[in-house]
Amino acid sequence: MRKVILAPSLLSANPLDIAGDIEKIKGQCDWLHIDVMDGHFVPNLAYGPNLVAALRSDENISLPIDVHLMVESPECFIDLFLPLGVDYLTIQIEATPHSHRVLQRIRDSGVKCGIALNPGTPVEWVAPLLPFLDMVLVMSVNPGFGGQKFIPQVLEKAGWLYRERAVKNFNFLIEMDGGLGLENVQTAVRYGCDVIVAGNAVFGHSDPAFALKTMRDKIMEVFQ
Ligand code: DX5
Ligand code: ZN
Repeated sequence: MRKVILAPSLLSANPLDIAGDIEKIKGQCDWLHIDVMDGHFVPNLAYGPNLVAALRSDENISLPIDVHLMVESPECFIDLFLPLGVDYLTIQIEATPHSHRVLQRIRDSGVKCGIALNPGTPVEWVAPLLPFLDMVLVMSVNPGFGGQKFIPQVLEKAGWLYRERAVKNFNFLIEMDGGLGLENVQTAVRYGCDVIVAGNAVFGHSDPAFALKTMRDKIMEVFQ
């Protein structure tokens, strides 16, 4: 049985009480997923290095931090995040002509590197990067907003990545982000996803810990 990581997205947390929302899901989540948006790559603005620094310096929060940069020219922004003690730093493949160089800079800093693909981006684009990656993020909505509807056609990308990894002995994790919840988490895991990001399904629930626990139970059923 492979380990599936649950990474709630703080984009859907209460902006006036992020710490309180994290407290609610303690013990039920594996990572914290933080979305960074620049208003150019995506038509929205969200979070930045100061939130990440605050989370990392809070001694009550020891969870791995998974930062998803939805910004144009990520090469101009990674230095803001690399010294903060983040665990994964993911850039969008569409956001720079120099994805290989940026990924290498992330890795050279001792941070795990990821590449994200928009729903309209062919998965084969990542093929030359696979040996250098710690994670591939398959976007299952168009990036920019929480609470959108899952796009099922992207599942095939996870399947392709899962097979490539097995055949060529790669080590990257497969993450899926957008529109995931109780109704489709099992399908995502069956297609090979290792990391499940969920915003609205967790923080939009009246009991976020219960939502995560139910999601975990559903995942366990896949492996029974
Ligand atoms: C969307 C973000 C996601 C978002 C997912 O651009 O990358 O991380 O928070 O939210 P849900 O799970 O609500 O679709
Ligand atoms: Zn995200």
